[in-house]
Amino acid sequence: MTYDVDTVRTHFPALTEGAAHFDGPGGSQVPVQVAEAIAATMLSALSNRGQVTAAERRADQVVADARQAVADLLGADPAGVVFGRSMTQVTYDLSRALAKEWGPGDEVVVTRLDHDANIRPWVQAATAAGASVRWVDFDRSTGELPVSAVADALGPRTRLVAFTAASNLLGTRPDVLAISAAAHDAGALTYVDGVHLTAHDLVDVREFGADFYACSPYKFLGPHLGAVAADPALLDRLRPDKLLPSSDAVPERFEWGTLPYESLAGVTAAIDFLAGLVASGGTRRERLARSFAALTTHESTLVNRLITGLTALPGITVHGSPKHRTPTVLFTVDGIAPRTVYERLALSGINAPASHFYAIECSRWLGLGDAGGVRAGIAPYTNESDVDRLLTALVDLVSRPQGLRPRHRSTSEL
Ligand SMILES: Cc1ncc(COP(=O)(O)O)c(C=O)c1O
Repeated sequence: MTYDVDTVRTHFPALTEGAAHFDGPGGSQVPVQVAEAIAATMLSALSNRGQVTAAERRADQVVADARQAVADLLGADPAGVVFGRSMTQVTYDLSRALAKEWGPGDEVVVTRLDHDANIRPWVQAATAAGASVRWVDFDRSTGELPVSAVADALGPRTRLVAFTAASNLLGTRPDVLAISAAAHDAGALTYVDGVHLTAHDLVDVREFGADFYACSPYKFLGPHLGAVAADPALLDRLRPDKLLPSSDAVPERFEWGTLPYESLAGVTAAIDFLAGLVASGGTRRERLARSFAALTTHESTLVNRLITGLTALPGITVHGSPKHRTPTVLFTVDGIAPRTVYERLALSGINAPASHFYAIECSRWLGLGDAGGVRAGIAPYTNESDVDRLLTALVDLVSRPQGLRPRHRSTSEL
């Protein structure tokens, strides 16, 4: 199946503003279909969930549709899809619920490759429960997280292993299956952060062996929400704090307050959009498989072009060289602070921010401190001309590190 990026781009009104968006790992641009689904839901009769009025039934349907769409995207059971306002929020909530089963002598494992949202909630919940934390380091030069490093941290009292399916800083894709298998052999649960990966590959959480798999629709063309998929039987075992009158059913037990119905309609629309990236038939999961296969080829061609271009430039360091990666690259420029590079690129209409991007342990472990590096992420709407524009701007930057005074640009130049 061929991937027609020009057609894909026509669905993103934001692109008409002219910037080259390498900021997808922070939050992707949104196709018009997603915005329209949100507006249509808000403009239809809608009330709290129920079965008596049409407005109630619509709210109920929106939730059921979104759970099914996320389940199709992740290869999960819709009855185990929990929504919240962000991955961070759902992870904090689940960490507290899981920690009710922990006590002194128990251990949780976290890695330095992870975003802090899959570290700190576990560290804090373990500390509150009197359990201890075991840290796993990754290889600084390659960016790889060896399975053996995680296996070495496991013991008979390991209760949970929290690790990432892909690093939002380096793009590293650890061997999720092998790490999950090792964790399960030790009798531990796995909490897999799929926020970065879900935008780039079609996962199967059951095959992954992820007891919990977290993602954020705003990274894959949808609205700002978080979702976690888990086995409903596992969720049924957990007793989160909740209001007396709120539902005790799974997964509602974990969803406090009223769900954002309009945003959930946007989640379904985003997943339908992904399923239609290339024209094909079959179930939504089958269409997603074909679309992601084409998307992966498109994105890896572009990231290879980007990495080849970056490594050819003097004074630029690309951090990490993981064998299995997402199309996300972290780089620094000798003698120029990442923030300055970011600002100089922005003057050319290129959005490639610099930060630790909340993978602060990862950035510190790499020796990049809290300044981090410049991150360039390829998204479904990125094209060759975006990549060349970034490389050309960097050629200019390394040849004139002091820069020129920014001149006024008309929007047509951006
Ligand atoms: C890998 C990764 N995990 C977790 C998060 C946190 O997601 P949320 O903003 O939904 O809490 C992010 C956000 O950037 C991320 O990139």
